[in-house]
Amino acid sequence: MPSLFDTPTILMCPPDYYGIEYEINPWMSRGRASDTDVARTQWSRLRTVLESAGATIKELEPRAGLPDLVFTANAAVVYRDIAILSRFRHAERQGEEPYDEAWLTSAGFTVRRLPPDIYFEGAGDALFCGDTLFAGYRIRSHARSHQLVGEMLGVRVIPLELTDDYHYHLDTCFCPLTADTAVYYPAAFDDYGLRALRSSIPNLIEVERDEARRFACNAVVIGRTVVTNNGCPRLHASLRDRDYSPVETPLHEFVKAGGSAKCLTLRLDGEDAASWKRSST
Ligand code: ARG
Repeated sequence: MPSLFDTPTILMCPPDYYGIEYEINPWMSRGRASDTDVARTQWSRLRTVLESAGATIKELEPRAGLPDLVFTANAAVVYRDIAILSRFRHAERQGEEPYDEAWLTSAGFTVRRLPPDIYFEGAGDALFCGDTLFAGYRIRSHARSHQLVGEMLGVRVIPLELTDDYHYHLDTCFCPLTADTAVYYPAAFDDYGLRALRSSIPNLIEVERDEARRFACNAVVIGRTVVTNNGCPRLHASLRDRDYSPVETPLHEFVKAGGSAKCLTLRLDGEDAASWKRSST
């Protein structure tokens, strides 16, 4: 089975209980609260932009006391009809796991879990480009988690050590566009990781520091449409040169929690860059 859905389908969670209630990455400060109304407007606009690009949005019900549940990218990694559930490193987010599990199960996924002592933060740290799963580790996910995920799914994994605390999840510094093209922010990787990326992905589009810090790499890709936070003009120009259609939408209320467009979504039919989508074996 290639996947449970045959058109672009994305899981999002409305920001009813979103807020900055704890600090688990350098972006978050309880002294810098988010504005509930602005967050709601930004989230709804993102949803509309994704729908205009052809996506169907499924909703995860928001829960009081779980402000980061909005970041559905961290729920699981999806492969065909299998969802490997996250095991969050921080206690503050561990309460999300049963809700993610219940939703994915009711949608028809076979939900698999990793052993209890292994941290793994889903599609935030594990992204397919071609037939390979690129996997970020150290700050959130354990390197061991990716080995286990690779064995469970029978796919090749390339582990990438994340070296910059502001880019604590792989999806904040790396974004596959197609099976052979990706966007990345080089300074978030060590030399080994850079060599691995450069030798396995033929076309890499580099993002500079100021746009990386505006979450340029945290993009949602639907066909040729690439959706990011606003304020990433150089990446957008490079994308237009390569015949993509970049779209910007303001997401600064979510940047306060260390997240942006991609973090707010989980692609349920598989990312466009994943080769497994196009094969039935
Ligand atoms: N505050 C959340 C955390 O630190 C943000 C998660 C962003 N998600 C992502 N996929 N990068 O866990």
